[in-house]
Amino acid sequence: MARYIVTGGNPLEGRIRMQGAKNSVLPILAASIMNCGTVTIEDCPNIADVDITIQILRFLGCKVKREGNAVTIDASVISNCYIPQELMKKMRSSVIFLGAILARCGKAKCSYPGGCELGARPINLHLKAFRQMGIDVRETHGYIICKRKNFVPNKIQLDFPSVGATENIMLVAALSRGTTTIVNAAREPEIIDLQDFLNQMGARIHGAGSSIIVIEGVGTFHDTEKTVMFDRIAAATYLFAPIITTGDVVLDNVDVGHMESIVSAAKEMGALVDVDGRSLRVTMRERPLSIDNIQTMPYPGFPTDAQSQLMAVLAYAKGTSIIQEKIFENRFRVAGEFVKMGADISVNERVAVVRGTKTLQGANVTAPDLRGGAGLVLAALGAQGISEIEEIGHMERGYEKLEQNLSLLGADIKKVE
Ligand code: UD1
Repeated sequence: MARYIVTGGNPLEGRIRMQGAKNSVLPILAASIMNCGTVTIEDCPNIADVDITIQILRFLGCKVKREGNAVTIDASVISNCYIPQELMKKMRSSVIFLGAILARCGKAKCSYPGGCELGARPINLHLKAFRQMGIDVRETHGYIICKRKNFVPNKIQLDFPSVGATENIMLVAALSRGTTTIVNAAREPEIIDLQDFLNQMGARIHGAGSSIIVIEGVGTFHDTEKTVMFDRIAAATYLFAPIITTGDVVLDNVDVGHMESIVSAAKEMGALVDVDGRSLRVTMRERPLSIDNIQTMPYPGFPTDAQSQLMAVLAYAKGTSIIQEKIFENRFRVAGEFVKMGADISVNERVAVVRGTKTLQGANVTAPDLRGGAGLVLAALGAQGISEIEEIGHMERGYEKLEQNLSLLGADIKKVE
């Protein structure tokens, strides 16, 4: 199995360009099947989750061509309205295809995505909303079967601003007659990116980015081209790298307006942050400071997807920090791996107490999930000595050229098979 060998201690310096967003490209690729024609998606990151999404698109009958970071999807013919379990279970976010297939074909069948390394991850809010829209939803033998019989335009009040549920409702409503309103919608920037893409194809949606989204259904879509927004979680990861290594890094292709909670945490830790248009410079001159209390929240709160990376930095900070995880119950699984590196972290359910230590030591550790793995890479960069990080397939799901980018900044990191 591939692993990273990291020799810590180098201050990271230089500049790198941020990749297209994983959490934006996956719903956009799924939504591409809603057009009976061709769309091209630019800045599609070269990551394993995109490869799986392309496999699903091909299974459904699409012709997909990838040239560099441009992916062209010809969905003129859709030959399957279901996703087999082998493909479905490869990637939790494949649940977004449920809405896309339903919108295109009027029916859809997928196996239940089930739990994953982050916890139970139910989809009850997606299915409840579908039912409120008059969709017939049946759950039998691990499969979900949806049929659009008598679509009812409705006001859907989400009990929690779920990203995936908001996206699934937008997809189904965009090609259904009448006006659907989502109340308490997720406000993540990736929802705005999806709205922009759907509107470019001819949809009539407004309000994304706020908690009320209004979707006026239309009959058909048309061809378009779309550039995916930057990945704010990858950007958060790279932003923390100079903070844990006392370095100086510029991130290009960033919209800092979408990173306020992350920048604010960086400043609280003592980093200097300068913004110049779409570039963000982070400079750190000494060991980071602790953060008294931080909790993960739906956007615009601090993202759960950046929590493990922050924990790595706080493990090395001056003082004690408290992290509360409010979104996914299993996000603290990585804490035990940080402890192997000399961190002092105690976890009680959804609260972690991180007592910063002056020196982290290289160790043999295992990535428990995508963002936990990114946190381990950061800790290894800041640690003394050599770390071996196993199970790097998790990081390859979401980070494009992780080791190349970090090497460009002066890190000593190698991938070995
Ligand atoms: C998306 C992101 C993921 C990110 C998460 C939170 C993608 C592909 N994935 O995941 O990277 O970590 O948002 O920002 O964009 N919940 C329910 N029932 C539901 C749906 C969700 O109880 O039907 C709960 C979840 O268990 C979790 C919370 O709501 O506690 C947030 O989930 P949600 O916003 O739906 O996350 P995802 O869309 O799965």
